[in-house]
Amino acid sequence: MKAIELKNGVYWVGVIDWAVRDFHGYVTPRGTTYNNYLIMDDEVTLLDTVKYDFADITIKNIRSVVEPSKIKHVVINHIENDHVTSIDKIMALTPDATIYITEKGRKGLDRFFDISKWNIKIVKTGDTLKIGKRTLLFIETPMLHWPDSMMTYIKEEKILISQDAFGQHIASAVRFDDEFATCESMSELEDAIIDYYANILMPFGQIIKTKTAEIQKMGLEMDMIAPDHGIIWRSNPQKVLQMYMDMAGGKANLSVSIIYDTMWRSTEQMTSPIMQGIKDEGVECKVIRLRATPMSMAIKEFWKSRGVLIGTPTLNNVMYPTIAEFLTHLRGLRPKNRIAAAFGSYGWGGGAVKEAYEEIKKMGLETVEPGLQILYRPSLEDETKCYEFGMEFAKKVKEYHQKF
Ligand code: FEO
Repeated sequence: MKAIELKNGVYWVGVIDWAVRDFHGYVTPRGTTYNNYLIMDDEVTLLDTVKYDFADITIKNIRSVVEPSKIKHVVINHIENDHVTSIDKIMALTPDATIYITEKGRKGLDRFFDISKWNIKIVKTGDTLKIGKRTLLFIETPMLHWPDSMMTYIKEEKILISQDAFGQHIASAVRFDDEFATCESMSELEDAIIDYYANILMPFGQIIKTKTAEIQKMGLEMDMIAPDHGIIWRSNPQKVLQMYMDMAGGKANLSVSIIYDTMWRSTEQMTSPIMQGIKDEGVECKVIRLRATPMSMAIKEFWKSRGVLIGTPTLNNVMYPTIAEFLTHLRGLRPKNRIAAAFGSYGWGGGAVKEAYEEIKKMGLETVEPGLQILYRPSLEDETKCYEFGMEFAKKVKEYHQKF
């Protein structure tokens, strides 16, 4: 690879990670990219670095434009490992450069590196840096998605370097949204945005709304939104902004995700009549078996639907372990604006459905109770109960959906 020009003098110098399939537990079947950017101006400026394994590649990409020793400013928008862990290799090539970072970013950087030898300047929202013909404006975005996070706006080019926000885990031969829509499809890109938002940004919906409104109030025109992962938005940056506002505002499909696991297939047998009941009430439905589906994919399907049904057998009086893991993971993502119920089979005393409700209530989600439990194996009569349970739940989902 070599540098790719976004606009006159502004380059992508990032790397493509075709092979990563496990991104700290988040499944990335399409790999990802670590994007960073170089601005050729009177004072050469680098925005962000990349994951340590790829330091040599970004250095090579920088070198295709300019010798790294010419870099005068290095902006660190975020200190998570995938963006900062090659900073020492970069700084070794340009030791007199100044690093621009938030206060919380500096404190974190100090835990990863010996920063005593580097020039560091703390920046906050509204601070600017003139690098020649261009001006950089810094915008702190705490908890979007780490305390240290910020974005950098290149005023004269109208480019927002948005860091993790608006990104997607896609490794592709193309860099821009219009190219991706042509060689693959816009719906695939949208799906990757939803996946990324659900798994990383779901807890921060309120912050996203506030921060996006703040950026809009600043009146910043956006020709491009350039995130630190995946495809760069140049043909329609407003699209991804609107998608974020919609998701943060509670947007979901009028559909139900049945997320279940099964021991001897009794709980699984319940899912078909439940699904049929939901569909006969005019609501779309998707069925996801946890042991056959990576956790992050199940989270995405949960996020797409207004309603969720959790199906769990009872094992030793508690929830099936994969379901317990899923609900704990989901609770950490602080989901909102979804309605839930639970069902499952049991052989001795039961207990899993009750536990599932307890966990769902800890999240503060709306529930439909008391759920449905079947002893040992669903009989024909039980299957009718499952069908009716699905229908009743779909009715509640439709009512709840009206609020949005
Ligand atoms: Fe892509 Fe928060 O790191």
